[in-house]
Amino acid sequence: MYNKILVPLDGSERSTKALAHAVTLAEKFSAKITLMYAIPIIPPYTDTAIDRVGHVQQSIIDELLSNGKVMLDQYAASFSDKNIEVDQFIIIGHPANEILEKATQEDYDLIVIGSRGLGEIKGYIMGSVSNRVSRHASCPVLIIH
Ligand SMILES: Nc1ncnc2c1ncn2[C@@H]1O[C@H](COP(=O)(O)OP(=O)(O)OP(=O)(O)O)[C@@H](O)[C@H]1O
Ligand SMILES: [Mg+2]
Repeated sequence: MYNKILVPLDGSERSTKALAHAVTLAEKFSAKITLMYAIPIIPPYTDTAIDRVGHVQQSIIDELLSNGKVMLDQYAASFSDKNIEVDQFIIIGHPANEILEKATQEDYDLIVIGSRGLGEIKGYIMGSVSNRVSRHASCPVLIIH
């Protein structure tokens, strides 16, 4: 029933919990898991990459990309003892849009996502990413509270 599971991760406790559910499902269904992290777009401040601001901006992006890779590697290591096929996907863009596009374009069967993330503000049940993804996804979405 579930062959491909997409797990969007932002390093938050809730997304870590979502991954644990995805791992359990993947074991049961012999599914493949994709660990995904979207780096929110930094608006471009300059036209060229040759001035100082452009350089600083590029080095911030490089740093964010390499931190993202470390984060996803750690997540992958957390269940490497299980016999589950896993891959990783990091992209720069609007998190909800990128998650939706990935799920549709690559025919994922399920998205397992945290209800809240790093930006947790008390009083809301869902964050903006989980909200948008659950409303617009082309496949089932499992939201972990
Ligand atoms: N940048 C991201 N890349 C991948 N997955 C993400 C990203 N941001 C959030 N998620 C996923 O969405 C879930 C819900 O996070 P969301 O961002 O919607 O809540 P929040 O941070 O509490 O609220 P908001 O960001 O709206 O202030 C997370 O647990 C995670 O699974
Ligand atoms: Mg967030």
